[in-house]
Amino acid sequence: MSIIVTGGAGFIGSNFVLDWFGTSDEPVITLDKLTYAGNPENLASLAGNPHHQLVQGDIGDTKLVAELLAKHKPRAVLNFAAESHVDRSIHGPGEFIQTNIVGTFHLLEAVRAYWNGLPDDERAAFRFLHVSTDEVYGSLKKDDPAFSETNRYEPNSPYSASKAASDHLVRAYHHTYGLPVLTTNCSNNYGPYHFPEKLIPLVIHNALAGKPLPIYGDGQQIRDWLYVKDHCAAIRRVLADGKLGETYNVGGWNEKANLDVVHTLCTLLDELSPRADGQPYKNQITFVKDRPGHDQRYAIDASRLERELGWKPAETFESGIRKTVQWYLANQAWVANITSGAYRDWVNTQYDA
Ligand code: NAD
Ligand code: TYD
Repeated sequence: MSIIVTGGAGFIGSNFVLDWFGTSDEPVITLDKLTYAGNPENLASLAGNPHHQLVQGDIGDTKLVAELLAKHKPRAVLNFAAESHVDRSIHGPGEFIQTNIVGTFHLLEAVRAYWNGLPDDERAAFRFLHVSTDEVYGSLKKDDPAFSETNRYEPNSPYSASKAASDHLVRAYHHTYGLPVLTTNCSNNYGPYHFPEKLIPLVIHNALAGKPLPIYGDGQQIRDWLYVKDHCAAIRRVLADGKLGETYNVGGWNEKANLDVVHTLCTLLDELSPRADGQPYKNQITFVKDRPGHDQRYAIDASRLERELGWKPAETFESGIRKTVQWYLANQAWVANITSGAYRDWVNTQYDA
């Protein structure tokens, strides 16, 4: 038995693959295009592990995916592969449509052909798990209840619209073809190997580099934050016992305004790696132009996953964010390796334009 993990060299995918081998030695084939966000270094600790293989390739390459399926005969495909950064989707939506919608379609087609050819018992046991986001539900007002699985989809950015489209395709492949699918919709993750274009790793990186900490608009937008390893545990639970064709919301019950998150990071850095001049890191906070169409609030009601599958986050925001800052402080070479070249060009486009 084995599983295929697409996008397994990215932030959440690599955490998932690393955690998988903490609980299992079932082989994993990681299929990743290795875009700017995919980093084989994230999986470096698996070098020499005979149960892991990294294949560079596109989920939209039906021929390659069909070959991998035929060769490895996985019992599940987990789809983490995506273009994932909202700001990039605003500057250039094309890649988001290509990977998140067209790519997912081609992947589903290859998986459907493979699944159709399986013997009955393997067909029944097979799973296609699609990793999605709470952003498909749109934006909440201050007092609205948190998103539940029955909220209607109201995506507002090219990123969330492309993820919403992929969720619909996955749903349709279950209803039309009977493909045994599961979908998870998770809130904002944070933790090790998070690419430093996203708020939390960007703020840690900029703070240590003595650079401004850019807050969009007034910084009062709210996100629900979940430690990435809790998300990975939720995915393992859904893969094991999720009901076919169903979706599961995953969240940390940790709603925070962006400015509060940045203040928390500054305070932790003051404690763990104080500035040489003794000044607080919060002095580097800078308010910048708001993101166009910026969603005001996301909040996840994860009670279904808790009730039906017994999942609960292990980390509070306080424990998870401390671990995260400690990880970045201990892994500055990882950050240095990626904050060059193409990454610098992006940061220039986003912040100096
Ligand atoms: P990421 O950008 O860090 O990683 C994405 C990975 O997918 C990269 O390794 C990249 O190389 C790979 N990839 C991109 N296009 C590909 C293609 N066409 N074929 C194969 N591989 C390709 O993203 P992430 O934050 O790890 O997110 C993983 C998944 O989880 C995404 O589907 C995202 O929508 C979803 N998600 C993310 C969050 C979050 O807070 N980061 C929250 C909820 C859901
Ligand atoms: P981000 O990490 O890009 O995740 P998402 O847009 O998927 O929620 O952003 C999290 C929040 O932080 C979002 O409200 C935008 C805001 N933000 C900033 O204020 N400054 C920044 O430099 C970035 C990258 C994000």
